[in-house]
Amino acid sequence: MIKEQRVGNMWLRPISHMASDGRELMLGGYDAGVLVATVQVDGIARGAEARIASVEAARPDHLRLATWGAIQIAFSALDVKRLVAGASLPRDLVRDSGFARGANGEELCRPNRWWENWTTHDVVSQIDQYWLASSEEKLWRAQRAQVFMERAAKMGSACEVGCGSGLVVQSLRESGWTGAYQGFDTSYQMLALAMARLPQERFALGDAFALPCEDGEFDVAICFEVLCHLPEISRPLAEICRAARHMAIFTVWVNDAAAGVTREEVAGKTFIHANSTLAQVDAEIQRLSPGSHVERIAQTSQKYLFIVQKAP
Ligand SMILES: C[S@@+](CC[C@H](N)C(=O)[O-])C[C@H]1O[C@@H](n2cnc3c(N)ncnc32)[C@H](O)[C@@H]1O
Repeated sequence: MIKEQRVGNMWLRPISHMASDGRELMLGGYDAGVLVATVQVDGIARGAEARIASVEAARPDHLRLATWGAIQIAFSALDVKRLVAGASLPRDLVRDSGFARGANGEELCRPNRWWENWTTHDVVSQIDQYWLASSEEKLWRAQRAQVFMERAAKMGSACEVGCGSGLVVQSLRESGWTGAYQGFDTSYQMLALAMARLPQERFALGDAFALPCEDGEFDVAICFEVLCHLPEISRPLAEICRAARHMAIFTVWVNDAAAGVTREEVAGKTFIHANSTLAQVDAEIQRLSPGSHVERIAQTSQKYLFIVQKAP
């Protein structure tokens, strides 16, 4: 029913469907082939509520990854609409996982992410084909790779938030970057395209609102054409700055005259186009990472590349 999924450095795969009707699922978390965590999800019914009944792991990072992965699987592969936290779920996971608390303070409720429509196969293939065919898209990717190589070529590791179908890391490799790469995305369909395109690279489920990584785990965090599709930039920017040890490079759509959100329909699905003001982005960066050196490059009059060098 569920294929194994990579979450950070762990693989989550079904161990058993314990109830005969398949409404309960035990997921095992494997690191280098060794079972290091288990998660039990109960009461699974398409479109309804399920519960993370138990989570066990010897190490806190395994616990965190396994729980986070189970949350993603419940929402994406099992199509559960609401997930309730069992009593054993650690409070910091509830906080970190980016989901709102329920009224009694115990629940994980799926936020209404009506804007997140990157999981439909047809939409994703259509968008990927457009990215490959568009000369503008090629030019922007090449410019971003050049900026990365000029400022971060010697950095040993990078994560990409919202890695899509892998075209960004492909252009970094073509530019000669040899560091360790980890791509994160919330779309299984995008990740599937990326994994098929670049089987040698590391891609995993990862939410810009709660990245499955430690503070400063990567030398650089990059994020292109993602913030402009989210309804707010504060939390994702905080996560990008948290993941990056030294530097963050990202794009924002800027419109000082008319900041705000408009909508676009692609194959019957709604996507957000979100514009910020330069002042908003600057203020947010200084709030999140005081003393950072910020450089801005305009790719078009409204598409800005930000290069944030964190204070030592
Ligand atoms: C416009 S695409 C950009 C892809 C890639 N960065 C590039 O430039 O080719 C936006 C990507 O962000 C992903 N995304 C949307 N919301 C996200 C979130 N909350 N966390 C992580 N990725 C997200 C989408 O699934 C999609 O792959």
